[in-house]
Amino acid sequence: MTDEIAKPGLEGVIAGDTAVCCVDQGELLYRGYSISDLAGNVCFEEVAHLLLYGELPAKARLDSFRREVESYHGLPAAVVETIRAMPEAVPMMDVLRTAVSMAGHFDPVKGNTLDDLRRRSVWLMALTADVVAARYRLKNGKEPVAARPGMGHAERLLHMCHGRPADATSARLLDLTLVLYAEHEFNASTFTDRVIASTESDMVSAVVGAIGALKGPLHGGANEKAMELLSRFRDAAEASAWIADTLARKQKVVGFGHRVYKHGDHRAHILETQMRQLAAEKGRQDLVAIYDAIKNPMVTKEKPIYPNVDYPCGLTYYLLGLPLDLYTPLFVCSRITGWCAHYIEQSQNNRIYRPLSRYTGPARRPVPPITARA
Ligand SMILES: CC(C)(COP(=O)(O)OP(=O)(O)OC[C@H]1O[C@@H](n2cnc3c(N)ncnc32)[C@H](O)[C@@H]1OP(=O)(O)O)[C@@H](O)C(=O)NCCC(=O)NCCS
Repeated sequence: MTDEIAKPGLEGVIAGDTAVCCVDQGELLYRGYSISDLAGNVCFEEVAHLLLYGELPAKARLDSFRREVESYHGLPAAVVETIRAMPEAVPMMDVLRTAVSMAGHFDPVKGNTLDDLRRRSVWLMALTADVVAARYRLKNGKEPVAARPGMGHAERLLHMCHGRPADATSARLLDLTLVLYAEHEFNASTFTDRVIASTESDMVSAVVGAIGALKGPLHGGANEKAMELLSRFRDAAEASAWIADTLARKQKVVGFGHRVYKHGDHRAHILETQMRQLAAEKGRQDLVAIYDAIKNPMVTKEKPIYPNVDYPCGLTYYLLGLPLDLYTPLFVCSRITGWCAHYIEQSQNNRIYRPLSRYTGPARRPVPPITARA
């Protein structure tokens, strides 16, 4: 037993060292590069390489990395049949968790050297995209489409979902969201992944645990919930009335707030700019008006709470015509790279996670015989 005070949610606790990512003066950095410099200037595969190998790839290396990702596409038939067998109502995140777990039995990479772990990470990148696209198509009564070579990861993912080439805007914006979502230091799912890694369990198990953590609406599930919220209102006036009531009742609003960013999330700002352009192109200013009707009172109230990246992401995906239950799975298709980078880092310099708890139960007492129990 300890008398020390517990830190709910481990707020403010430094739970380990990492060279993968940090938040410096309120800005997210992947291995030293600011997210503002990366977004729009590098593609998702460059970010994936940066996270897994520590450096941005030169052109020839990017080409070979892309070929490596392509080489791992294609689901084992048993995994496709498992996905097909899942009832239609099963949420996509649950399908993804189960399918990734099952695909682990067909892991094409053997061994656990640093090189093996990096190759397994690249396989998981391809696998998560394959599973999301296959489930999307099977749910819509269509057979999965094979991954096409010679495309960017985001473009190929859209092609595998829709069975036709993606338009340039959709491919560019999906790629941008994958870049923004790729990594975020010791967030809940990454911490889950590192705890599992710290037991010397395998990478697939760590990723399956992380998928379960990401699913929650306080974490990755927020992009779907944010769009669900916006969809509830017919116009900005309805949204304004709702937010006034919600704030008066001191209730939380999904898509806002962050443990780390108390003065705004850069990623949300970057994506929001793009989302506004997209909405203008699509003639959906009505949705932006609802978006702003909720956002403005949140950021101007006495104690402002700013949007996190999930708030503009939900509407961006909606404007791209993507179905709601794909939003959080697309987050997985990106964050898989951060999870794997952290798995590798943890496994290269490991000490098992085993914190203490503060006991709040009954004081020490004798075990009563069964006849004396109430
Ligand atoms: C992200 C989140 C879980 C962080 O939680 P946390 O660090 O434990 O923050 P807290 O819940 O302690 O909130 C701190 C304060 O901000 C307020 N706050 C935080 N998020 C809020 C939100 N989304 N809406 C309204 N108020 C919020 C809390 O009410 C609290 O106010 P108080 O100090 O007056 O009591 C939380 O902000 C949240 O639930 N957001 C909504 C879900 C979401 O969008 N998740 C995606 C995160 S990327």
